[in-house]
Amino acid sequence: MSSEQYEALAPFYRPLAKAREHFEMECSLVCSFLSRLRVGKEAHILDAACGTGDVVDLLHKAGYSNTRGIDGSATMISQASSLTHLSPFSLSICNWSELRNWWNRNGKYDLVFLLGNSIAHAEAPQIPSILKCVHAGLRNGGIFCVDQRNWSMDKEGVLRDSKPERRIPTLRDLTKGRPIQVGGKTFEVHDLCEHMDNIQKVTYRVRELTTLGEEPGWQMWCELSYSVFPLSTMRAWLVEAGFRDVQEWVTAPEEWSYREPWPYAVLVARKAD
Ligand SMILES: C[S@@+](CC[C@H](N)C(=O)[O-])C[C@H]1O[C@@H](n2cnc3c(N)ncnc32)[C@H](O)[C@@H]1O
Repeated sequence: MSSEQYEALAPFYRPLAKAREHFEMECSLVCSFLSRLRVGKEAHILDAACGTGDVVDLLHKAGYSNTRGIDGSATMISQASSLTHLSPFSLSICNWSELRNWWNRNGKYDLVFLLGNSIAHAEAPQIPSILKCVHAGLRNGGIFCVDQRNWSMDKEGVLRDSKPERRIPTLRDLTKGRPIQVGGKTFEVHDLCEHMDNIQKVTYRVRELTTLGEEPGWQMWCELSYSVFPLSTMRAWLVEAGFRDVQEWVTAPEEWSYREPWPYAVLVARKAD
């Protein structure tokens, strides 16, 4: 997978995240982590898959002014610039394959986030080297927060999600009763989830709702792929990459009424002092 898969989806991403409450959920999750991790306001923080810039914006507003966001998708970064008041310095296009150059040019970080099931967009064999690269970009004692769907292996060796309905081909109306507004127009969004070997493929399709009563056609198709691997594999990769003290923070406060798929399983890993 590459971030190019997001180009067509980018204009719809933030309105959809808002409509499905992912936006608020991710921001709440990050806030709870920051207080639990006791990260100082002067800390150097990187959101390494910042998408439309929600977390970077939230952290700047909360006083964490040394926070930057990178993303491999130019269109997601351009959405982030127009949806937030962040300076161009705070948002950059950078693919994970370029991370080493990023550290060389910009220095190391106290905290790196990779949230929203983003790492699963990389092909599984590439993930260990991405994790090693993140480890190299952290200061000693620095922290990495990465999340993924909570896949686990059953007794027959089959990978299962904690949300079994996503294992079978499912077509869903993501905006049912809550169509989204983009550029002054109203849209509905569907997604179809399929599985092939250890790849989960999600196809999004979008159409404008008109008032004319005629059946609108689908205007946008976008296919995203996610590598499927158990959480224990991610934990092993983190240790192999050099991280110590890998903890599972799947949790969200119980009072949060999360809708599927949140919360993803979150692993918090530390680089040795
Ligand atoms: C599911 S979105 C998550 C965005 C944000 N963290 C959120 O939760 O809303 C995944 C993001 O990862 C980015 N991405 C995927 N592959 C990438 C790569 N190889 N390098 C950099 N960014 C990548 C995509 O462009 C996209 O913005």
